[in-house]
Amino acid sequence: MDIQALQQRFIERYGAADEPVFAFFAPGRVNLIGDHIDYSGGQVFPCAIEHGTTMLVRRSTDSMVKLASDNFDLMANLRQDELETKYDDHWINYPLAVLQQFRMAGVKTTGFECLYFGNLPSAAGLSSSAAIEVVTAYALNQLYAANMDLPTIATLCQQAENQFVGVQCGIMDQYAVAMGKEGHAMLLDCQTLECEQVPLALRDYTFVLVNSNQRRELSESLYNERVQQTVTALHLIQKRHSIEQLAELNISQLEDCEQLFTEHPVEYARARHVVEEQSRVVRAVAELKLNNLVEFGRLMYASHDSLRDQYGVSSDPLNLLVDLTRDNSDVLGARLTGAGFGGCTVNLLKQDRIDAFKETISEPYQNATGLTATFLDFAPSQGVREISLAPLQEVS
Ligand code: GLA
Repeated sequence: MDIQALQQRFIERYGAADEPVFAFFAPGRVNLIGDHIDYSGGQVFPCAIEHGTTMLVRRSTDSMVKLASDNFDLMANLRQDELETKYDDHWINYPLAVLQQFRMAGVKTTGFECLYFGNLPSAAGLSSSAAIEVVTAYALNQLYAANMDLPTIATLCQQAENQFVGVQCGIMDQYAVAMGKEGHAMLLDCQTLECEQVPLALRDYTFVLVNSNQRRELSESLYNERVQQTVTALHLIQKRHSIEQLAELNISQLEDCEQLFTEHPVEYARARHVVEEQSRVVRAVAELKLNNLVEFGRLMYASHDSLRDQYGVSSDPLNLLVDLTRDNSDVLGARLTGAGFGGCTVNLLKQDRIDAFKETISEPYQNATGLTATFLDFAPSQGVREISLAPLQEVS
C-alpha cells in the first residue's frame, strides 16, 4: 500500500483534525552470519531490508492511546491506566512495551492515535516485532520530544521486548532495524555496541531470502530456553575463567573446561556454537572485505550446521532448504537466519541465476514438506526514518 492510501485509511479511521499526521518507517532485518550469539556478547553481521512497518501517528486532544493496524482486525483504544495490561500473544504488546519504557524513562505518555501497516511476512524470522517496536519508539521520541538517539532507542526497544513481551532477546534486531545503512551490513559487537558499517560489494552475486513458511511453534519458550542454557554454560566456565560473556572465550579455553560439563552436555554444545560462531563472523567479514565470497559462503554453511547440530534451533524444512543448495554450483552459501525454529534461509548466489535457483527449490520443497517456499529479493537498506506526507488536502 502506498503512503497516500495509508494516510487516507488513517483519516477514515480517526477523522480529520487540525493536528498534523506524521509518518515513520522501520525495516525488518536479515542476519548474514552470527546467530544466537548476540545475547552472549558476540559479534553479528545483520542488515536492514526494504520491507518493514510504516506507522502514521497524530497527537490527540485527550489522553487516550489508540492503536490500530491495517494488517489485523483488533484495535485498542486505551486509557492511560490500561496501558500496563498485556494482551495474549498479540502485536499490540509491542507498542505497549515501548510505551512502558518511555514512562520508565520519565516521559509522560500523552494521548495519540496511530495506524500501522507492515509488509514483512510475519513469523518469518525477519524481525517484524523489532520493526514495530523501533518505529513506535522513533515516532514517540519525536512526538514527546524525548531527545533519544538511535542507540538509546534500540536499547530501549530490547528492554521493552525483554521486560513486557517476555522474550529474552539480544540487541541485534533492534540495532539493525534502527541503524541500518543502505548498501551495507553492520558488524555489531553486542558487548560494546561498537558498530562498523561494511559495504556489501557482491559483484555478480546477491543474497536471496527463502521463507520456509513453516509455522513457528513454541519459538518464544524455546528461545528463552536457549538463553538460559548459555547462562548455565557461562556460570560453569566462570569457575575457571574470569569472563563476563561466553563469546569472549576461544575454542581451546572452552575445550579446557569440558570436564566441568560432564553433567551438562547440551550446555557444552551450546557454548561450542557460541565460541565457534563468533570466530566465523570475524573470519567471514574479513573474507568479504577481501572479496572472497567463496569463503564467506563456506562459513555460512558451517554456521547453519552448527545452529542445527550444536544449538538445536533448525528444523526439517530449514535443513531441506539449505540441503537443496549444497550441490548447486550457483550457490556459494546458505543458512537459516535469525532465531530459527522456522522462518527464512539466506542464500548467497549468482545474480543472474535467481530464477533457476527458485526452480531447484520450489518443487522438491513442496513435495517433501507440503509447504510452499516463497522468495524475497534482498536490498540492504536504511534503518528507521521519517517519511514525508503530502498535505491532507492533496489526498483524494
Ligand atoms: C532473534 C532475537 C535476536 C537474536 C536472534 C538469533 O531474532 O531477537 O536477539 O538472538 O534471534 O541470532
